[in-house]
Amino acid sequence: MCKKGTVADLCNYKITTRSVKETKKLGEKIGTCLQAEIVLALIGDLGSGKTSFVQGLARGLEVPNDYYITSPSYTMINEYPGRHPLFHIDLYRLEDPVDFEDIGLYDILGDNYVVAIEWAGKIRQELLPDHVTIKFIISGDESREIYMSAHGANAVNLLKEIKNRST
Ligand SMILES: Nc1ncnc2c1ncn2[C@@H]1O[C@H](COP(=O)(O)OP(=O)(O)OP(=O)(O)O)[C@@H](O)[C@H]1O
Ligand SMILES: [Mg+2]
Repeated sequence: MCKKGTVADLCNYKITTRSVKETKKLGEKIGTCLQAEIVLALIGDLGSGKTSFVQGLARGLEVPNDYYITSPSYTMINEYPGRHPLFHIDLYRLEDPVDFEDIGLYDILGDNYVVAIEWAGKIRQELLPDHVTIKFIISGDESREIYMSAHGANAVNLLKEIKNRST
């Protein structure tokens, strides 16, 4: 787990995107980096870019192009085949905070899963498995500040890889 201090650099990363295309590219890059089971906890206001990011992520995970990725606001969970199975979750309609277990995911997750959760602030974070929290801030009509923080060894490795590929 990351603490403030020497390892903080490994655990945090900020990037600004200046178009929806750039946000999708970021998602795609992360999708291509993914090696291990990981949860991406997406946080941010309506229209901040969470679904756009997941669309890029799906591309990076080689989800076939004929799947159109849209917010599963009503179904709550969508599953897509890819290099890793992608579970896309949207908790917008949940009224009360839940535990990760409550979503019933442990029953359906196999190996090597990737889970992207919109409105992940509704889950009690301390109970999440290895995850990267990705926070989207609307900083202009076309710009978004995106803050990532890693929690757990798999997440730290992922963030390191993303940073390496960005420099
Ligand atoms: N830099 C940017 N990154 C992402 N989206 C952007 C950016 N600039 C403008 N946009 C626009 O913002 C909107 C983002 O919508 P998107 O559905 O991805 O947001 P969301 O966070 O999933 O919202 P919701 O909480 O309603 O599900 C799109 O209309 C997109 O074109
Ligand atoms: Mg969305």
